[in-house]
Amino acid sequence: MLSELKKQFPQSLKYDWQWAAKHEMGPNALWLTEFLTQAIALNQDMKVLDLGCGKAISSIFMAKEFNVQVWAADLWITPTDNWKRVQAEALEDRVFPVYAEAHSLPFAEGFFDVIISVDAYHYFGTDDAYLPYILKFLKPGGTLGIVAAGIRDEFNGDIPSSLKALWQPEMHTLHSPQWWRQHFAKTGLLNVTTCDCLPNGWAIWKFWEEYLTENGFMNPGRGNDLDLLNADGGRYLCFPRIIGQKQ
Ligand SMILES: C[S@@+](CC[C@H](N)C(=O)[O-])C[C@H]1O[C@@H](n2cnc3c(N)ncnc32)[C@H](O)[C@@H]1O
Repeated sequence: MLSELKKQFPQSLKYDWQWAAKHEMGPNALWLTEFLTQAIALNQDMKVLDLGCGKAISSIFMAKEFNVQVWAADLWITPTDNWKRVQAEALEDRVFPVYAEAHSLPFAEGFFDVIISVDAYHYFGTDDAYLPYILKFLKPGGTLGIVAAGIRDEFNGDIPSSLKALWQPEMHTLHSPQWWRQHFAKTGLLNVTTCDCLPNGWAIWKFWEEYLTENGFMNPGRGNDLDLLNADGGRYLCFPRIIGQKQ
């Protein structure tokens, strides 16, 4: 698995695993951010919103790897907490932590070149009214990119028997790439250019959860996905990635 990971995530594999494990709030925020940014043209000094950044390691990654300016916006993690991580990386002129509720953002319309969201958009973005709102903050032609836990195909009815006992009501916000494509494209506001899943995503997810568990990094507040992953066996669980340009 390690040699495959090195090929798939050459940038994020340079980062300390313990640092990533300590500060992520979803399954490997660095790997998911690298996967997302592989399909987004990030150029120096671009203004990027990292929406639902958690502990801002995705923001730190983008600032270091692409020299962009990142507004690291989150609800549960305070800007002061994130600022300490930014200072530790000497990125005070690149990463700007902000307290933000996704429906009431403190930014100027048309401000950002790129808006990304890593394992967070499904907390607020399944509502049909959300895309028109968030796109206001992008420049014309700007890019929106999301990656999050999801499912390969919609259930279209009952929860599959393999998953039923473990499926929590809030997991109904997990969707397939095609669902997200349609959710975005039907508005006529976003030209969807990428719609896929992280290759080998189920196995990568399971590998990371095992690493966290075996090395004592499993944060009790985050929850352990291993039972769900084992029950799924690779049929549904994956990481959809959807990217598009504001029309
Ligand atoms: C699973 S965590 C992922 C955090 C981070 N991106 C990562 O991968 O480590 C989901 C994040 O979404 C943020 N979030 C959830 N609802 C939100 C909302 N309404 N407005 C802003 N952020 C929200 C939470 O604060 C949390 O940090």
